[in-house]
Amino acid sequence: MKLSKLVVGLLACAATFGAYAQQPIVIKFSHVVAADTPKGKAAEFFAQKAAELTKNKVKVEVYANSTLYKDKEEMEALQLGAVQMLAPSLAKFGPLGAKEFEVFDLPFMFNSYADLHKVTTGPVGKQLLAKLEPKGISGLSFWDNGFKSFSANTPIKTPEDLKGKKLRIQSSKVLEEQIRAMRALPQVMAFSEVYQALQTGVVDGTENPISNLYTQKMHEVQKHLTLTEHGYLGYAVIVNKKFWDGLPADVRKQLDDAMEQSTRYANQIAKIENDTALDNVKKSGKTQVHTPTPAERAAFMKALVPVHKKMESRIGKETIDAVYKATGFDPAKL
Ligand code: LMR
Repeated sequence: MKLSKLVVGLLACAATFGAYAQQPIVIKFSHVVAADTPKGKAAEFFAQKAAELTKNKVKVEVYANSTLYKDKEEMEALQLGAVQMLAPSLAKFGPLGAKEFEVFDLPFMFNSYADLHKVTTGPVGKQLLAKLEPKGISGLSFWDNGFKSFSANTPIKTPEDLKGKKLRIQSSKVLEEQIRAMRALPQVMAFSEVYQALQTGVVDGTENPISNLYTQKMHEVQKHLTLTEHGYLGYAVIVNKKFWDGLPADVRKQLDDAMEQSTRYANQIAKIENDTALDNVKKSGKTQVHTPTPAERAAFMKALVPVHKKMESRIGKETIDAVYKATGFDPAKL
């Protein structure tokens, strides 16, 4: 009798332990955009790959559309370990103290995705991600979104058309300077609040890659969109360093593989998603879409490229020059 009780007890213990041992490692992945955007889709892809390659030892929970945290809060949550993974836009790293990242916010710095990849997949990209380590953050990868265009309720053909307008930007000193270069008024605001601010007239306009504009329905409250493509918006996928370093080595390796595949996927779909979003904006008939003439584009470049020089002491001449060298861009030739 006593022996059978002991056996039952041991079996119960083993079952509890077994159940405990099988609990997956949970990675909370928070982001601020819609699920059907380049970042949203790549995050879901990573969740699937992570489950597949770790044989369900890891469960990635993706929280889209600021359901967990808004822009600024998510970075704090990552550092505190309340979430384990994020993919903030590159503009979000300046306020964290990694000012070199602001090189990505410089207007007309990148002419194409190919230019951009020369930087993100090369030594400059590596050096930038390494700057995050002392902040308790490990940078895993860069994911593309696309090129930003200006929208407003009045036509935009020249920089003067934006003069005096209140334009929403992300919290970035470079973007502030970019807006001021057109004598417009920068308004820093969390991404989740932009639609309402446009709808109620708290701001007059904004800048976005088209996938963000469309999936937040901003085109419904902006009468004009001009395809200025004056700046780049993309992401760095980051993790809480302590959490990441504490993972079993085999699991971390499988997750690194999942991230590599997800990065390939993210960068394959980014342009397609933005092109499709633009088609959808056009089809909606709610916004008039204008493609600038070469002369109009040149006028935007003339107004905005001087921001590079102005921001040199903040971002660091070395970083700006390293990007010029990688892409071949020479502002003196404008
Ligand atoms: C923004 O605030 O406009 C962007 O950071 C949103 C995004 O794509 O993450």
